[in-house]
Amino acid sequence: MNHTDRKAEIIDASITLFCEKGLDLTSMQDIAAATGISKATLYFYFDSKAALIQEVYQHCYIIMSKIILTGDRPTGKLHVGHYVGSLRRRVELQNSGEYDKIFIMIADAQALTDNADNPEKVRQNVVEVALDYMACGLDPKKSTLFIQSQIPQLCELSFYYMNLVTVSRLQRNPTVKAEIQMRNFEASIPVGFFTYPISQAADITAFRATTVPVGEDQMPMIEQTREIVHKFNTVYGETLVEPQVLLPENQACMRLPGTDGKAKMSKSLGNCIYLSEEPEEIKKKVMSMFTDPNHLRVEDPGSLEGNTVFTYLDAFCREEHFERYLPDYANLDELKAHYQRGGLGDVKVKKFLNNVLQEVLEPIRSRRKELQKDIPYIYEVLKKGSQEAEKTAAQTLDAVRSAMKINYFADAELIREQSEKFK
Ligand code: TRP
Repeated sequence: MNHTDRKAEIIDASITLFCEKGLDLTSMQDIAAATGISKATLYFYFDSKAALIQEVYQHCYIIMSKIILTGDRPTGKLHVGHYVGSLRRRVELQNSGEYDKIFIMIADAQALTDNADNPEKVRQNVVEVALDYMACGLDPKKSTLFIQSQIPQLCELSFYYMNLVTVSRLQRNPTVKAEIQMRNFEASIPVGFFTYPISQAADITAFRATTVPVGEDQMPMIEQTREIVHKFNTVYGETLVEPQVLLPENQACMRLPGTDGKAKMSKSLGNCIYLSEEPEEIKKKVMSMFTDPNHLRVEDPGSLEGNTVFTYLDAFCREEHFERYLPDYANLDELKAHYQRGGLGDVKVKKFLNNVLQEVLEPIRSRRKELQKDIPYIYEVLKKGSQEAEKTAAQTLDAVRSAMKINYFADAELIREQSEKFK
């Protein structure tokens, strides 16, 4: 048994005794008796009972912590789809005080897996994403904001996890499949891109995340991560944490369509509303939104199915918006019912949506303008965050290396055992 295992055994036994007899009534002698380890050895590992208790606390803290990790690829400014799909929720979770740690990662290395020919795009967008994050209310005092490529431990973890995943399993990952098609990678898939689910598992596990708030499209990634964790823990012993996914609150938030009604929002289609969009642009995009093509006259009954304006309302509007901007209706259900009955024009609904969006986006835009005045500060935040994130990742890597028993030089037992063997 190596040092780490023995320490873990002592800590486990201590927890049991502390629970049974109470902290004060448990002596080092009792712990020695319960583990069959001599008192001298016990004191070799822990200088005092106080030191042992300290480590017990730390251990309990780690296993009971609620930790969030999530992030985005920096390939452009963030838009309203990112907002309802994840950003808004992250800010709420951050401010709920329910989480012990929150890590928000700008996934530049992952962005390079499908932008190998365009590294400059990724480089330019790191700060854009950081600005969007902070403009939305992610607060560096409460959340650790960092850049993926600055955490070298993620590469090493990925390297070990690669042995736990098969090529066919990666080929079956629905997100990877869809992305391969979308990017016309069929003929020549970059290896880095193909294996990014493994590196995403490293992202998640390095920070011992218990909770990963993401959009629905990321579900297969979390599933893949859980499989890797399970496999690792089976082969090497309980080490990694299995994360849970936290999905957006409703269907509209899950996959907000582009303003033209197309499922995918993209810069080239010009169908996104960005978080930093100016008021006139927002209005223009809302007023030209796709609705029900058969709803020609106001008196006609309208359909909600695939009606982008109503999908956006599902994602954004709250009852208080009606009081302020459309007091004839108490809530969205009443508005929908009128639209379906006939007699409610698209323009009226669009004007309402515009008011709602303007209200939501105004504070984000103005905070962003403030933040843009001090770009060095943004990089300073990311630097501090990356340093802090690296510390956590290094602790996990240590645990992984000792579970894998490749911590040769810290393993006195191994050296002794090998010496015996060659006697
Ligand atoms: N795949 C995510 C995206 O495309 C970004 C990402 C990278 C991520 N690593 C992650 C998300 C870990 C959640 C957890 O936006």
